[in-house]
Amino acid sequence: MSEVTMEQLVSLCKRRGFVYQSSEIYGGLSGAWDYGPMGVELKNRIRDYWWKEMTQIQEHIVGLDAAIMMHPKVWEASGHVENFTDPLVDCRQCKSRFRADQIDLEAACPVCGTKGSFTEPRDFNLMFSTHLGSVKDSGSVVYLRPETAQGIFVNFKNVLQTSRVKIPFGIAQVGKAFRNEVTTKSFIFRTCEFEQLEMQFFVKPGEDERWFEYWKQARIDYYRKLGIRSDRLKFKEHGSDELAHYAKAAFDIEYHFPMGWQELEGIHSRTDFDLGRHQEYSGKDLTYLDPETRERYVPYVVETSAGLTRTVLMVLSDAYEEEQLEGGDSRTVMRFHPAVAPITVGIFPLVKKDGLADLAKTIERRLREKYQVFYDQSGAIGRRYRRMDEVGTPFGITVDYQTKEDDTVTLRFRDSMEQRRVSIHQLEEIIDGEIRSYRRES
Ligand code: GAP
Repeated sequence: MSEVTMEQLVSLCKRRGFVYQSSEIYGGLSGAWDYGPMGVELKNRIRDYWWKEMTQIQEHIVGLDAAIMMHPKVWEASGHVENFTDPLVDCRQCKSRFRADQIDLEAACPVCGTKGSFTEPRDFNLMFSTHLGSVKDSGSVVYLRPETAQGIFVNFKNVLQTSRVKIPFGIAQVGKAFRNEVTTKSFIFRTCEFEQLEMQFFVKPGEDERWFEYWKQARIDYYRKLGIRSDRLKFKEHGSDELAHYAKAAFDIEYHFPMGWQELEGIHSRTDFDLGRHQEYSGKDLTYLDPETRERYVPYVVETSAGLTRTVLMVLSDAYEEEQLEGGDSRTVMRFHPAVAPITVGIFPLVKKDGLADLAKTIERRLREKYQVFYDQSGAIGRRYRRMDEVGTPFGITVDYQTKEDDTVTLRFRDSMEQRRVSIHQLEEIIDGEIRSYRRES
């Protein structure tokens, strides 16, 4: 198995329009990234794949889309104003800032080389704040949410009263989150603006351990279903000194990224911490009345929390392969699961003339109704295939002279490079079947 380096990934992402540095023409903004034509398709498809897995095919999970800016009391109640901090030190000489837990305080500053220049560590809150409205006073301070989860907790009663859900049930949300991270290395792995895929599952106290185990298993199975290599996925349990302020127990699903094993998703047992605190701070009743037993309680919560933008990096790392071919040739191929590949089908007339381009265009128009399609009529066919391999397009259709005679085309499969002669009337059926039954071979 070839291991991709971060340099190879960053270079492919730029070259093929997956990810660009933010504000590049002005020299870039550290830790911020833009998603190009391929990147936005990949990100949206991963988001939709997660959404389908976590809502559409789950009878007991509903969706939500809460605002990024929320009442400032939310973050007092959640504990983020008090606890969501990193210990930071500054270099007195060059003013560079570091996380105290990631640097040797006795050593020289890694930026300017000055010894003994670090300040004492002090806690630095990771939330970005701004002012709502035209008056800049402390009463108008709002925070950009550092996690989407709180939007779910504060809407717990609304969803309960309007959706006919009964415990156990979940609420899922996808959206942007913001953290003023000092260490924003490793490309899109850790950024100040990112997206989360979160689900809060509300359960009866005492049943939380069973559901915690259930969601741990369900979430690692999900990555395998997405075609991610099993040997690059593992669990890591949080020790009691690592637990977030809201968690009773937590496991990370880690992935072997180009820079090593790192967190991809967290599964957290949050008890009644959040609902209990919101009940206290808002003065509103957030209890649940069991319709059968008439018991009333504040539900416990099991959370699954993944980074969408971090999943994009994981999917890119996992898909990347440089393959040696027979005859000394080589190719770069992105082995995306066809359900999340930015382009599903490439369409190529063998030559432009003799009506082949028109025929290919007719097929293209038909398939566009259903798939993301890329039409390419220029250059040698082998080169056109390679370009599609590099952006991970799982299917290629070539229209040639035989197509005019018998309505068949060549269907090429990205992974095996196998070419099969098929009827143009069966294309959707074959492609859909391949997407449904996709298994990664290497
Ligand atoms: N609601 C719980 C929560 O936010 P977390 O472990 O702080 O938990 C969950 O974050 C996930 O969000 C992480 O596993 C990671 O995938 C993603 N994430 C967190 N901070 C991030 C950052 N600065 N950049 C990109 N992704 C981040």
